[in-house]
Amino acid sequence: MAEKMKAAVFHKFGNLENVTVEEVDIPEAGEGEVLVRVEAAGVNPVDAKIVQGYLKNALPHEFPVVSGWDFAGVVEERGFSARRFEPGDKVYGYARRPVVQWGTFAEHLVIPESYLAHRPGNIPVEQAAGIPLVGLTAYQSLYDAGDIQEEEKVLILGASGGVGSMGIQLAKEQSAYVIGVASEKNHAYMKKLGADEAVDYRGNDVGKAVQEIHKEGVDLIFDCTGGETLQQSLKSLKPEGRLVSIRNRGADLDSNIRHKYVFVEPNSSELQHLRELVESGRIGLPVSEVFELAEVVEALEKVETLHTKGKMVIKM
Ligand SMILES: NC(=O)c1ccc[n+]([C@@H]2O[C@H](COP(=O)([O-])OP(=O)(O)OC[C@H]3O[C@@H](n4cnc5c(N)ncnc54)[C@H](OP(=O)(O)O)[C@@H]3O)[C@@H](O)[C@H]2O)c1
Repeated sequence: MAEKMKAAVFHKFGNLENVTVEEVDIPEAGEGEVLVRVEAAGVNPVDAKIVQGYLKNALPHEFPVVSGWDFAGVVEERGFSARRFEPGDKVYGYARRPVVQWGTFAEHLVIPESYLAHRPGNIPVEQAAGIPLVGLTAYQSLYDAGDIQEEEKVLILGASGGVGSMGIQLAKEQSAYVIGVASEKNHAYMKKLGADEAVDYRGNDVGKAVQEIHKEGVDLIFDCTGGETLQQSLKSLKPEGRLVSIRNRGADLDSNIRHKYVFVEPNSSELQHLRELVESGRIGLPVSEVFELAEVVEALEKVETLHTKGKMVIKM
């Protein structure tokens, strides 16, 4: 009989209360896969959206589904031909597979070794656990899709959240000029991360506010919010400027706008680069709250608000 583990699972789409901590079989590592012991997992807005069924037509799934998409942990066993890591190696990763089923809010996880990297050794496991999804998202948006260049002006919408916190730091790493957008209570936080300027979206037209200071406009908008804030911001984009969005796939956008949508994918070499940046002290991810696995519903309810700062994490 398979050994058991605790995992936060749901058996049907619906309310966040559908997620319960249950005993389930520990999965076995297959070809090219490793079994890891999860020590901590990042809590992301997508975790709530998945439970509520918003992505059910976009992503195939198989019930029961274990929630959670990123983690830090320790390699325990290796499947056939999985030889890049040794048992005992401390790793982190983004675990989205083509079929949504085995998530990271669990004591164990089977994952292709190609999704993993050694985790930063200089930070607590809670911080490492929150980096993969938001770090890769900001990396793939600014560096891959956005092709951000030195000295460019970058406007980041939703810059005090998980993705935005990484976005500010990765943009500064490229010597860009960063304008962060969030509510005023988070302005000091964004500036501490490196933002050159902060703009409030509440009671303010973000595009007009940016235009008043930067008449020539910005080179790149990194949109982590969508909606009205995105629409307002477009007037501050240079005619030849680029928009990279993780919220808007092209709806209600003028066809003249150079727009790319990013849906983050696992990437081991980018995780290694992020680790190097963290270990050299150049970037980091502030953790605002740590939950226990039993508090998973509370964590999902909070992250769903889209007003948390930095990263929330579940510790196993
Ligand atoms: N496509 C992808 O691959 C991908 C990957 C990761 C995330 N996402 C999505 O991207 C979004 C952001 O993710 P996250 O993890 O960074 O979320 P988060 O941690 O909840 O951060 C949300 C951020 O948005 C700000 N905000 C909320 N409403 C706003 C508005 N109307 N205008 C401007 N800023 C606003 C918040 O600031 P205040 O608290 O100050 O309001 C905060 O800075 C989520 O919807 C998530 O599902 C997509």
